[in-house]
Amino acid sequence: MLKQKHTNPNIMQRPRQMQRLLFLLLAQLLKVVFCDTNEGPEHERRHGGPTLGHWTYTDQDWKKDFQQCEGKSQSPINIETSKTMFNKNLPKIILEGYSLPETTSLNLTNNGHTVKLTLPDSMSISSGFSQKYLAAQLHFHWGSVSSSGSEHTVDGTRYAAEMHVVHYAAKYGSLSTAALEADGLAVLAVLFQVGPNDNKNYNHIFDKLQDVSEEGVIVQIPGFDVNTLLPRQLYRFFRYNGSLTTPPCFQTVTWTVFNDTIQLSKAQLHKLETNLKTGHHTLDSNFRFVQPLNGRKVFASFSATLASRRMVTKEDTAESGGDDKSGSELREPNAYSTHSGDTLAIIFGILFGCTVLVFVIYVLRQRKRRSLNTESGQKVIYKPTTTMEA
Ligand SMILES: *[C@@H]1O[C@H](CO)[C@@H](O)[C@H](O)[C@H]1NC(C)=O
Ligand SMILES: *[C@@H]1O[C@H](CO)[C@@H](O)[C@H](O)[C@H]1NC(C)=O
Ligand SMILES: [Zn+2]
Repeated sequence: MLKQKHTNPNIMQRPRQMQRLLFLLLAQLLKVVFCDTNEGPEHERRHGGPTLGHWTYTDQDWKKDFQQCEGKSQSPINIETSKTMFNKNLPKIILEGYSLPETTSLNLTNNGHTVKLTLPDSMSISSGFSQKYLAAQLHFHWGSVSSSGSEHTVDGTRYAAEMHVVHYAAKYGSLSTAALEADGLAVLAVLFQVGPNDNKNYNHIFDKLQDVSEEGVIVQIPGFDVNTLLPRQLYRFFRYNGSLTTPPCFQTVTWTVFNDTIQLSKAQLHKLETNLKTGHHTLDSNFRFVQPLNGRKVFASFSATLASRRMVTKEDTAESGGDDKSGSELREPNAYSTHSGDTLAIIFGILFGCTVLVFVIYVLRQRKRRSLNTESGQKVIYKPTTTMEA
């Protein structure tokens, strides 16, 4: 189902249909992936009601207009930590070019569904996947003044809000092309919790929210270090295959949900929850409900059991001086059994070696004795050895 694509080989033989389909597809993509909504309130007024392709968070029955939204690998999901599978082979995530010079100019937009910051493709995930992904944009999902609004939930807990940093596979050249390919998109998700202090790193964006209050407005903000928006512990994350959480719900996203959360103050969250408008209404609670897992696996780059983490961290710090923290985290759950396994292997190895040696000596002695007994002449040369052994 992840291989599912929007285009069909048969269509290639019918150029006109293909063109129309491609056009529709591109329109949807431009609208949703790039978040440039053509169908604002004006459009609705002109046509006297909601148009095809218009969608809201209040009515999430999106499958009527967007077939893929009823697929079997949809996002977001509830991450049940006890059912996640520790996978020590998940590569460490390394971000490149995230520290943007102030001379860069970034567009901040209210597209009626979210507030979105466009990112230059000089920013990338250089390691973490089997291929390179380039950044396209980041945006937020939030609740209301009285309720949480993250999209992913962890063990049933909905966090205050969530940020998505959207990347596309470099080999596909553009976000719109990549969005149609099974391995096309990689989204990094950060969950927010309420903390006592303002998180200054987010003021680059939050100080401008008032300026993009009206749907469709774009303002420019100078470049800053986007690393500071992400958790410090990038090596602790959940990984699963899913979809865009907005129509057209393409199932082409490899999700990375960081285990470490970021704190925002109540006042900062309040800005997100009250400053933006969709049409004439407050843009809030812009999260999609969690979707069924349908047998999908959710991997964890780290051991989910706090107890073993504590034990192993202590041990590994003693061993390695604690400089290879991520490495030790990734080895976590098996570290203990591996160590005791090593010891066992050595003991058995020695025992086995001894047994073989004794057996070989025994066989040699038997053979020499036999050869001494049955043959004379040549074989006598073995005699000194035999005597030495004895
Ligand atoms: C995602 O799907 C790909 C292709 O089917 C598969 O190789 C990979 O293991 C899946 N990843 C996860 C986290 O399930
Ligand atoms: C982080 O992982 C721990 C251990 O699995 C879990 O208890 C906690 O809920 C997770 N938090 C998030 C935000 O993923
Ligand atoms: Zn999102």
